[in-house]
Amino acid sequence: MTINPVRKERDTAGDLISFVHADARDALAKLPDNSFDCLITDPPFGIAITKNEREVGRPHWDRSRIAFDRTFWAEARRVLKPGANLVAMGHPKSFARMSVAIEDAGFDIADTISWIHGQGYPAGFRHLDDELRRVGGTAIASEYEGWGNMLRPSFEPIVLARNLGSNDSLPALIDAGGAGGFNVDALRLPVGGEERSRTPGKVNLTATWRVNRPEGRKSSPPPAGRLPGNVLLQHAVGCDEDRCEESCPVAEIRRQGLSKRGRNEDASRFYRSFYHHPKATRAERPEVDGITGPSVKPVGVMEWLVALTTRPGQLVLDPFAGTGTTLEACARAGVRAVGIEREAAYLPLLELRIARLNSSPS
Ligand SMILES: C[S@@+](CC[C@H](N)C(=O)[O-])C[C@H]1O[C@@H](n2cnc3c(N)ncnc32)[C@H](O)[C@@H]1O
Repeated sequence: MTINPVRKERDTAGDLISFVHADARDALAKLPDNSFDCLITDPPFGIAITKNEREVGRPHWDRSRIAFDRTFWAEARRVLKPGANLVAMGHPKSFARMSVAIEDAGFDIADTISWIHGQGYPAGFRHLDDELRRVGGTAIASEYEGWGNMLRPSFEPIVLARNLGSNDSLPALIDAGGAGGFNVDALRLPVGGEERSRTPGKVNLTATWRVNRPEGRKSSPPPAGRLPGNVLLQHAVGCDEDRCEESCPVAEIRRQGLSKRGRNEDASRFYRSFYHHPKATRAERPEVDGITGPSVKPVGVMEWLVALTTRPGQLVLDPFAGTGTTLEACARAGVRAVGIEREAAYLPLLELRIARLNSSPS
């Protein structure tokens, strides 16, 4: 297994990334300790299991409990450098189990990002009055008109952890191994013309860059923008720079207004928002012989995560590569990456993604 795709003279983006066809457990067991600077992945969410135990018999890539398995994340920790970041996408129903497994494996949970897209499909929604009639509960059914069994999924949690023991110092680990930390300046949010208090020593919510800075640096000019927040917003499918759709979560924030001072606030001042379909556009999504990958993520969101957690030239692992969206985002940022994918059916999609990158002008 190649774990070190080398950047050549005049390479294309696709030269930075590679993948192996393997089960992630088998592949990880063959990897040396401390070999990756970051792990960014979108593991099987285990929804088929958490939703309904009877579905366990159904053959499906999502059936495995691997994302909830502490031993898997411990192996991931072994191949990561000390201090390295781990980014794992999840599902609102099952990410708590994954988060606990990651923490139990020895990672420090740094945050959970809410990626709000407002457009999930409520698969399995049932009208409870109909369901009651179906099971013979006709007496109570009319009282349940308008009731249902679930909400519309509108966000995805993204667990942000790091390979950091309770007695470890992050700066010392970065100094020793060169991995870890968050590149906040790369992702600051525009402040616009808002006023900023410069009261020395005061924790000012509109000037979060000042918090925890040594006293001597308080007077240095603030970098342009707010610290990136742990909420990402996804515009509705039909939005563009000039116009938002009625159902767009970004427009909803603008409508409701965030300011107590009575002025309408643009959500972009507080949250990073993306103009991509949450399930990746058709153009982005590789397709070979009518097959597309499961749960293909938009490259824009993955690029944001790569920018936050890596430096160009570093080496990223994605043990559940799918169609390779993480790999593409890494390549676009000049970051090297290796993907692992178990399902043979998705390998042509990975190949197509890399071929597209190799043929696109750099
Ligand atoms: C949620 S999908 C990833 C989709 C990816 N983010 C994309 O944009 O295309 C999870 C992937 O993990 C793969 N997978 C599941 N269990 C695996 C295992 N044990 N080892 C390697 N890959 C596995 C599945 O086949 C699936 O392609």
